[in-house]
Amino acid sequence: MRQILIAPSILAADWSQLGQEVKSLEKAGADWIHVDVMDGHFVPPITVGAQAVQALRPLTALPIDVHLMITPVDAHIEAFAKAGANILTVHPEAGPHLHRTLQTIRSFGIKAGVALNPSTPLETVLSILPAVDLILVMSVNPGYGGQTFIPYVLEKVRILRKIIDDRSLPILLEIDGGIHAETAPLAIEAGIDVLVSGTAIFGRLADSTGHAYASAIAGLRGSK
Ligand code: DX5
Ligand code: ZN
Repeated sequence: MRQILIAPSILAADWSQLGQEVKSLEKAGADWIHVDVMDGHFVPPITVGAQAVQALRPLTALPIDVHLMITPVDAHIEAFAKAGANILTVHPEAGPHLHRTLQTIRSFGIKAGVALNPSTPLETVLSILPAVDLILVMSVNPGYGGQTFIPYVLEKVRILRKIIDDRSLPILLEIDGGIHAETAPLAIEAGIDVLVSGTAIFGRLADSTGHAYASAIAGLRGSK
């Protein structure tokens, strides 16, 4: 049985108390903290930079999973790595040489991920799999929380799962966008290891007790 990891996206959290939100998520059983970095260029909204990762770093022992929706991305890798990110995931469209970008990420001793938009072919990563630690299959177009899950990206997940298993590759498969109690089982069935979820976890007021988050997280994992 594959272990399913839950990576809450703080995009949907209460930003007036982000530190408390992260602590609540850890208490509630989250496995990773997913930070969405948007630049107003690769995607329309602007969120936060490396300073936010640096501020959250001492507040949690959980891996910080940073999803970079910024272009050009290369000049920012070092800042996010030094801020304490454990995983840096980039979009192939965000720089001229994806393989070099992944090498740069790994040179800081952290994990390198590739995010595939719904329209990005999985072939983009096939020839460079040894340089990849994680593949993030986008199940919405990047930029906003609360969008509707695109079911046919699961075909990409199934093909990647088979390649990873057949070759025993140490690559995690992550999915991001529209993941909630109904879509999580579909993603798990298709072969996902890591579920990112924003609105399905934070679809309520900030939760300093962590109870509401705990049941949402357990529900996604399928352990409830
Ligand atoms: C979208 C982001 C997601 C987003 C997911 O560009 O990458 O991480 O926060 O939000 P939900 O779970 O609400 O679809
Ligand atoms: Zn994301």
